[in-house]
This record gives sequence, C-alpha cells and structure tokens, in this order.
Amino acid sequence: MGHPELRRIAEPVPEHEFGSARIASLVEDLWDTMEARGGIGLAATQIGEASRVVVFGMESSARYPDAPEIPRTVLLNPVIEPLGDEREEAWEGCLSVPGMRGLVPRHLRIRYRGATPEGAGVDREVAGFHARVVQHECDHLDGILYPMRMTDMSRFGFEEELADVLGLGDCPPD
Ligand code: NI
Repeated sequence: MGHPELRRIAEPVPEHEFGSARIASLVEDLWDTMEARGGIGLAATQIGEASRVVVFGMESSARYPDAPEIPRTVLLNPVIEPLGDEREEAWEGCLSVPGMRGLVPRHLRIRYRGATPEGAGVDREVAGFHARVVQHECDHLDGILYPMRMTDMSRFGFEEELADVLGLGDCPPD
C-alpha cells in the first residue's frame, strides 16, 4: 500500500492479445504469486502490470477458514454489475496490505462478465463471498484498495489483534 503502481488505472487487454504469450505469462505470474502468499485473488496491478487481468479462486484457505469454495477463475477486462441494492459487511485482507484486516461493505449480489485468456466469454451471477472477492480484485484495476471502501475505520486492524474476531486461531499472518 502506497506504491504508485497500485493507484494506476489498468488498461483493457486488446482483443489481439487474447491467447498471447504475454497474457499467458502474466496469468502464470499471478497464480504463482497468489499461491506463494496464500491469497485467494490477485490483480495484475499488484505485480506491476497495468493490464485489466485478475485471478481468483480457492478450495480452502487458512487466511479465510470460513469461506466457501470459489472456482479458480482468470478474468480479462472484467465488468461488474450490482444486482439489487443489498450490501453486506465482511472482513477483508489484501496481499498489498499485509498483516491487516478491515470490515468492508460490498454489494451482496453481482453479475460479472469478462473474458478467459483465450477470449471466451465469462458471465456469472454470484453472491456473498464470491461476489466480494470479485469486487475486491476488480477494484485493484481502478487503483482502489479495500481500506478506501471502508466506512468505519475503527474496524481496521492487525490480523494478530483481530485473530479471535476473524476465527484465524494460530494460523500465521499472511
Ligand atoms: Ni487485494
């Protein structure tokens, strides 16, 4: 947090780059980085690439022990459409804000669309934690980190201090 790359607005991936070696290599870097750090999602801006590419998904996560499964997904040029006005607050962390968590309001239900690395269409309606992860990652492409979405800064703190609230037990931070 604070690095100027994280505040950049990422550029759309042009259609002629679908299926390209640059995108394949970027996606591989994103998965490797995400998995090495135990994250559940990562955006290209977090590794210094200002392209509209995010990856997310997990079967289970020590960082988010109560979270449901989310299919492993790569999304190019994602677009989010909120479904309804309902919002939900939940705790978020971010590999670009290490060691911290905050309570963040997000749209409860969304539709998201985008493309796979090969250019096939993705179109899903999701809710809850899945919807939250997508909103968090897509925010990164617009230079937005989750603390900028918080409405109550008294609910922002260190993972080790919040361990009981988060149900993290003895799991190592990050
Ligand atoms: Ni993040």
